[in-house]
Amino acid sequence: MEDLNLSKTFLESQKRSEKLAREIDLSPDKFRVLTGDRPTGSLHLGHYFGSLKNRVSLQEKGVDLFIVIADYQVLTDHDEFDKIAQNTRELVLDYLSVGINPENGRTFIFPHSHVPELNQLLIPFLTLVSNAELERNPTVKEEIQASDLSAVNAGMFVYPVHQCADILAVRGNVVPVGKDQLPHIEMTRTIARRFNKKFSPKAPFFEEPCALLSQTVSLMGLDGVQKMSKSRNNAIMLKATRDEIAQKVKKATTDCERFITYEPERRPQVANLLRLISVMDGRPAEQIASQIGEAGAKALKEMLVETACDFLRPIQEKRKMYEQEPGYVRSVLQKGIERAREEASKTLERTLRVMNMELL
Ligand code: TRP
Repeated sequence: MEDLNLSKTFLESQKRSEKLAREIDLSPDKFRVLTGDRPTGSLHLGHYFGSLKNRVSLQEKGVDLFIVIADYQVLTDHDEFDKIAQNTRELVLDYLSVGINPENGRTFIFPHSHVPELNQLLIPFLTLVSNAELERNPTVKEEIQASDLSAVNAGMFVYPVHQCADILAVRGNVVPVGKDQLPHIEMTRTIARRFNKKFSPKAPFFEEPCALLSQTVSLMGLDGVQKMSKSRNNAIMLKATRDEIAQKVKKATTDCERFITYEPERRPQVANLLRLISVMDGRPAEQIASQIGEAGAKALKEMLVETACDFLRPIQEKRKMYEQEPGYVRSVLQKGIERAREEASKTLERTLRVMNMELL
């Protein structure tokens, strides 16, 4: 298969992304960020450093921030659906606890199942892509391999188009993503372009959104070899207690050399624990290593537990506060849904007009 890192599309996306980052700094009011997650469980440090931190910093720059909770997408790769409502609530609590702020008048969180006008856009969008294109999507292929589905459903092939509806319904023009989501953003750009060409050839109707590639390296889990993820049991959850953190860290693999050094190539597991401390306390990994030195792996692990507890304390305090405020999460979602519907119904109405479907 084509190496995504070196492909022409990737290099072009990367260039566009760098230019975009500079433009956002200059005039944040021109940009509307649309991003999202599937409600499959609570979030961990990998999510924090991979996307949440970046969302908060975009929010602080003054862009509009729409966060879609992609609940319909859960059905594409999971048979179970019993925890969707609870996971949606957990997701909102995680967002709020890290500083996503729906009180600023520019930040909105909504589950797409509650925005019918958004979902309706899926139908015309589906006519702008071929089955072959849907089947070629490398991220979808990987997800099919990894899914716990008893049988692959059509929703699995179609969800990237649904994601396009998430973005275009609220006219998002910036989508902060990791590399795995790039094929979906490319598809969204293709659909926007084809829509414009077919239905509105004189003036572009949809703006082609740009991917904003995340700058952070993806964090390895405590095993040091796989990406941090809840299902691999190698993650530090944002809401983990000290005991839970200590237990996970205790099981982390190191090596048999006593003296702690930062050598990512030769000692990947030790290096990963050092990097985890480093992203949380802001010191270079080399400095942390030389401070620990001959105190060895036990001291390294103790430091990691301590650093994680210190780092997560303010986040968890905030979370408790929101957890205890009755009806707050629900009201955040209701406001988000209201705003998303306002945008999506405008988009749908205009879309029907250019497709010659208005009533005469
Ligand atoms: N597919 C994304 C994921 O699995 C979630 C998502 C849904 C999304 N709609 C989106 C991300 C729109 C960015 C933009 O993580």
